[in-house]
Amino acid sequence: MAFDVEYVSTLMPERLIFWMESTDSTMADAARLAAGGCPSGTVVGAEEQTAGQGRLGRKWHSPKEAGLYFSVVLRVALPPEQLPILTMSVGVAVAEAIANSTGLVVDLRWPNDVLVQERKVCGILVQQQHQALVCGIGVNVADLSMPGELAGIATSLEAAGGSAVSREKLLAEILAAVDRHLDLLRQQGKDAVIRAFQQASSFTAGRRVVVDQGERQLRGITDGLDENGFLILWQDDGTRTVIFAGGVRPE
Ligand code: BTN
Repeated sequence: MAFDVEYVSTLMPERLIFWMESTDSTMADAARLAAGGCPSGTVVGAEEQTAGQGRLGRKWHSPKEAGLYFSVVLRVALPPEQLPILTMSVGVAVAEAIANSTGLVVDLRWPNDVLVQERKVCGILVQQQHQALVCGIGVNVADLSMPGELAGIATSLEAAGGSAVSREKLLAEILAAVDRHLDLLRQQGKDAVIRAFQQASSFTAGRRVVVDQGERQLRGITDGLDENGFLILWQDDGTRTVIFAGGVRPE
């Protein structure tokens, strides 16, 4: 069913929301809006993306009307080293919104993948653009079967829960949760975000994982997050390593 953006605007009348039939990537659309001076919180979304961007240069599968694909322009004064904290804060917010909207049990995989039944249902990408942060969120809502390379590692809310999910209500829940968690970051600082992430994620401590970093793979057991939100890994050779980037998966 086509997305009813008017309905979302009635739920959040203050919010500027642009919604398109199709776009290459909402990251590029949001960057243009940021360059034009749009207010913080402005949202741009689309029914499909023809060149959806994922983390680590990957593509984001964005079939028509099967997900929520949107970017939010955020104007928050944060030192650059706290960018990972912001992405974690958005991850916690989206996980909370999905759990509240669907009743599904949700997990978070560092740095910010949202999982249901151990498969990815949502990815988050944050980029610095024109003195703003553009936060892209992709949620698989209605895909019942994932294509080849995603089968087994991704799922959708409807495939996992077996019942219909209103994309409009979910978008409103996510935006409200992102606002709440940004307030928490502003008021209580990064430690509160790190604590919230650790509580919501089964991956941050005591989990055997492989970390893919392009040319190298690290294997070991996770041992919490450091004071900047980076993942600590005890590698099998006894080395304690701080993971700044990479894809984490259970071994
Ligand atoms: C990831 O790799 O986990 C991050 C995926 C982010 C996907 C979203 S969909 C909306 C926004 N537009 C994009 O092109 N990417 C992000």
